[in-house]
Amino acid sequence: MRVILVAHLVALVTAQTTLDQPPGPKTWPPTSTLASTLNLAPSVLPNVLDPKAPDAQKLCPGYKAANVVSTENTITADLTLAGSACNTYGNEISELTLEVQYQDTAQLNVKIYPKFLVPSNRSLYILDDSLSPSGSIAVDCKANNSDLVFEWSNDPSFQFRVKRTNTDEAIFDTYGHKIVFEDQFLELVTNMEPDYNIYGLPEAIRGAFRLPNQYTQTFWNQYNEMNDQPIDANMHSTHPVYLETRYANGCSKSHVVYARNLHGQEWLLRPDRVIYRTIGGSFDFYFFSGPSPTEALAQQQLGVIGTPVMQPYWAFGFHQVRWGYQNWTVLQEIIDGYAAANIQLEAIWNDLDYLFQYRIFTHNNNTYPVPEGQEFLERLHANGQYWMPILDPNVYVPNPNNATDANPTYDRGKALDLYIKHGQGDDTSDYIGIQWPGFSVWPDFLQNTTQDFWTNEMKMYHEQLPFDGWWLDVNDQSSWCTGSCGTGRLEENPVHVPFKLPGEPGEINYDYPEAFDQTNATEAASASAASASQASAYPTPSTTVGTATVGFTSPTPGVRNITFPPYALNLTLAGHSLLKQAVAPYATHNDGFHITEYELHNTYGYTSGIATYKALLSVFPGKRPFWISRSTSPGSGALTGHWGGDSNSRWGNMYMTIPQALTFSVAGIPYFGVETCGFNGNADMELCTRWMQLSAFFPLYRNHNSRNTIAQEAFRWATTAESTRRVMDVRFRLLPYQYTLFYNAHKKGETVLRALAWNFPDEESLRGVDNQFMLGPSILITPVLAPLLRSSQGVFPGVPDTRWYDWYTLEEIKAARGENVTLNAPLEHIPVHVRGGSIIASQLPGNTTKTTRSNPWSVLVALDGAGEAKGDLYLDDGVSQEPTDIKQIEFSFAQSTLNIFVTGTYHDKSPLANITIAGWNSGDAQCRGVEVFAGGKSVDGSNVKITNQSGALQVTGLECVVAEAFSNDLCFKFL
Ligand code: NOJ
Repeated sequence: MRVILVAHLVALVTAQTTLDQPPGPKTWPPTSTLASTLNLAPSVLPNVLDPKAPDAQKLCPGYKAANVVSTENTITADLTLAGSACNTYGNEISELTLEVQYQDTAQLNVKIYPKFLVPSNRSLYILDDSLSPSGSIAVDCKANNSDLVFEWSNDPSFQFRVKRTNTDEAIFDTYGHKIVFEDQFLELVTNMEPDYNIYGLPEAIRGAFRLPNQYTQTFWNQYNEMNDQPIDANMHSTHPVYLETRYANGCSKSHVVYARNLHGQEWLLRPDRVIYRTIGGSFDFYFFSGPSPTEALAQQQLGVIGTPVMQPYWAFGFHQVRWGYQNWTVLQEIIDGYAAANIQLEAIWNDLDYLFQYRIFTHNNNTYPVPEGQEFLERLHANGQYWMPILDPNVYVPNPNNATDANPTYDRGKALDLYIKHGQGDDTSDYIGIQWPGFSVWPDFLQNTTQDFWTNEMKMYHEQLPFDGWWLDVNDQSSWCTGSCGTGRLEENPVHVPFKLPGEPGEINYDYPEAFDQTNATEAASASAASASQASAYPTPSTTVGTATVGFTSPTPGVRNITFPPYALNLTLAGHSLLKQAVAPYATHNDGFHITEYELHNTYGYTSGIATYKALLSVFPGKRPFWISRSTSPGSGALTGHWGGDSNSRWGNMYMTIPQALTFSVAGIPYFGVETCGFNGNADMELCTRWMQLSAFFPLYRNHNSRNTIAQEAFRWATTAESTRRVMDVRFRLLPYQYTLFYNAHKKGETVLRALAWNFPDEESLRGVDNQFMLGPSILITPVLAPLLRSSQGVFPGVPDTRWYDWYTLEEIKAARGENVTLNAPLEHIPVHVRGGSIIASQLPGNTTKTTRSNPWSVLVALDGAGEAKGDLYLDDGVSQEPTDIKQIEFSFAQSTLNIFVTGTYHDKSPLANITIAGWNSGDAQCRGVEVFAGGKSVDGSNVKITNQSGALQVTGLECVVAEAFSNDLCFKFL
C-alpha cells in the first residue's frame, strides 16, 4: 500500500521544489507574483476534492492506550502507534499523550499531543496561551459532578466518546474511527446523528446559517483582494467551533465543540460524520454541555475564549466610510450631508486615502494636511462625533537609493529588529512582501519590543491627529506576491500592487444589484454599454500573474515541508496554495523557537489585535479601546469587533450577512457588522434602503464602499434617507437595550444577536430560520431580503403562548404556530416586533449617542399572556474601562404594577417621561389613573395623561412627577 501511495503522490507533483524560490529576474512585476502555476486543477491534488486521495482512516493503524491513570478530575494515558506508521501526509508520531480534564460541571477538555516534546519542537504542536486562551480546572470540579463523561476503548484501536452524564447520549463519538497524528496531518472523525443541526465554524460567506450535512469548511486566513466574496470559502478569520442542537420529544439540547488548534485545517461535514483534519498542531477539544444553546455559548466564553469586550457607548452609533474620500473637505461634506438629511452620524471613518502613499502612521500633506485636520477634528469632537482611520499592520520599506523616500516608522522598527524574518537561508533578513504601499514588512507581535513600538507610533500619531480608534485591516497577513519578493529589489520601491486598484483605468465597476434593469432600465442600459466599452478598451484582466514553479510534495521521513504540505487544504485561491496572497508559511518569528508562519499564520489577527488594544489603552488611559479587526480567532471577541469583509452590492450578499453575523455570535464576537449597501459594485436605491434597514439591528452599523462605484451614503436617495431616519429612530431608541445586552455579554457571556432557535430552543421548525433574527431576547427582525418586494415573511415563535407586538403600532400580532406570516413592508419600513413579557427602557433619539443620552426616558412594557413582564437596564458613563460608578435596574410588571429595583449609584440626569404598556387590554378596559410611589411615598400625579390606543396604555407627563428616572423603590400602580 505504501508503494502505491508514494507512486500516487509522485504522479501528482508537476514541478517540485522543497521551498519557495526567491524571486526571479529583476523585472517588474516580479515573475513570482501570484504564481499562475499554483493553479493546478483541483482534481489532481491530494485533497478533499480528490476521490483517489489516500484515506488515512484506511491506511493508518491508530493507537492503543496504556498506563491509564485517573484522578478525581483527570485521566491520562500513553497512546502508542498500533502498527507500522502510515505517513499518509506527514510523518506519523508513534508516542502520544492523552490528557482529559473535567474542568467545570459543563466543560470537558481532551488533549492528545506528542509524548516527547523537545523544547524547540514544542511550539509546533502546542498552541501557547498567548496566542489563544485555554481553559483550566475550576476549583472543586470533579468527574463525578460533571454533566459530561469521557469514555474510551482500545478495541480495535483507541477511540473515545464524550457523553451526557444524565442521558448517556454521546455528543462526540470517535468510535469506529482511528486517531491519525502525523507532523503535518491530524485526523479525527466523530459520528453524527442523521440530519444533524450544526452552526458556526466562521468565517465564511454562506447561503445558510444551519450548515449542510455535506459541506467542507477550510481555515487558512487568506483573501483574494481582487475578486468578489467567494461563497463557502476560507476567509479572514479562523474559529474552529460549532454549536450542535438535537431535538427529541418536543425538547432540545445543545452543546458546543471547540477544537483549539489554529493551524490550517478542514472540517468535512458528511451525512453521518464530521471529519476534522489539520496540517499541524495537536488535538485540544473542549466540550460544553449547554443544554440550551445560549448556555452552551456562554460556557465556551466563560470557560475558555473570554467574554466579549465592553464597547464604548458611541460604538453603537452609525458609522460612515468610503475608500475614496479624497480630503478633509470631502469628509466635512459627508458629515454635513448627514446633518442636512437629519440622519444620525456618530463617526466618520477614513480608508487609505488619508495616508501618504498608503504608508501607515503618515498623512497625505496635500489632501489631508495636519493643521486642517486638527481644526476638522476639533469641530468633529465638539459635535460629539468621532474619527476612525484605517490601520494596516504592515510597514513600508523605503527605497534605499532615494533619500526622500525615508519612512521613520520603518526605521524605528528596524532599529529594534522587530520585523518577521525571511526564514530562508539568511535568517536575519526581514521578510519583504507587497502590501498597499509597495514592498512592506510585518511587525512580529511575539516580540516584547513590538508592543512598545506599536504603542509609541500610535501615541505620536495621536499627538498630531487625535483619532478615536482604529480600523485594523489586512491583519490576515495579506501579501500580494509569492514569498519575500522584495528581497534584493527595494530600489524599485514604491511599487504598485500587482493588480489595478479599483477606479484605475479599466477598473470602473459597472455592476448593479439584481433587478436594477427593472427598476432603473435606462441607467442599467447605459451601465451595460459603458461596461462593454471598458471591456473592449481594457481587454487584459487586472491581475498580474507570474510563473513560480511549485508542487505538492510527498513526505520525506524526518522532514516537514511547510510550503507545500503533503495534504492540500481546499483553499479558495486557485491551486490551494498556502503561499498565495499571504506572508509565506516559512517566514519566521524571533520567539526563541524561530517558529514559522506555517504554525502562526492564523494567529496574526489575534496578536496584532492584542498589541492594538494595549496601545489604544495607552493612548486613552482608562477608556475602552474602540477598534475592529479584519482577522480574528478564538479570544478576539474579548478585545474587539469584526466586520464581514468586502461584501458585494447584491441582494444575495445582503441576505448572507445574517448567517455570517450569527456565526460570529457562536464565536463570541458580538460586535459584528457588514459593509451596508455593499462594498464591491454599485448599490441602488432599493438595495441600499433595505440594507440600511437590516444593518440597523447589527451591533456595528457601518456603510462602506469601494473607490470605483457610485456614492451610497444614506442621504443619496430620498427614499433611502427617509427609511434610514425611521429605522435610525428604532435603533436609537434601542440603544440602552443594546448596551445592556453587551454588558450582559461582557459579564455573563450572554448572546446579543440570536437565531430564533436560540430563544425558542424547543421549536424544531426554527432550526433553519435565518431570514429573521433576534436582537437579544426581545426584539424580532423580519427584513425584506429581495428586490421589488413590499412585504416580508416570517414566523412568530412561541405563539400562542408568546405574545408579539408590532414595534411601531404596538398592535398585537395574530399568528398560528409555524405560520409564515406576510408582513406589510413598504420601502421605508422594516418589520420589527417586541416579545410579550419584555420591558425595554429607551431614550428619545438625538443626533448622536451623546445627545440621546441626555434625553428623557420611556419605558415600554410588553405584556405576556399572564399580564406580566420584566427587563433590565445597565447604565454607566459609556467610556470607562472599569467603571466603578454604575447602575443596574430591574423592571418587573405584575398585577398592574410596575416595580423598579435599582442597585448602584451612577446618576443619570434624564427624567422618566413615558410609560407604555402594550397588550394592556385586548378588549375595552380603560385605565383610570396611575398612582406613583417613590421611596414608598405616594406622589401627586395630576399632570399625568393617559390614553388607550391599539390596546396599549400610554402614560405621558411623568417627568413632572418623578425627579430621577430610575430610583430605588419607584413604583407605578395602574388603576
Ligand atoms: C480591504 C478592506 O476589506 C476594505 O474595507 C478596504 O476598503 C480596503 N482593504 C482598502 O483599504
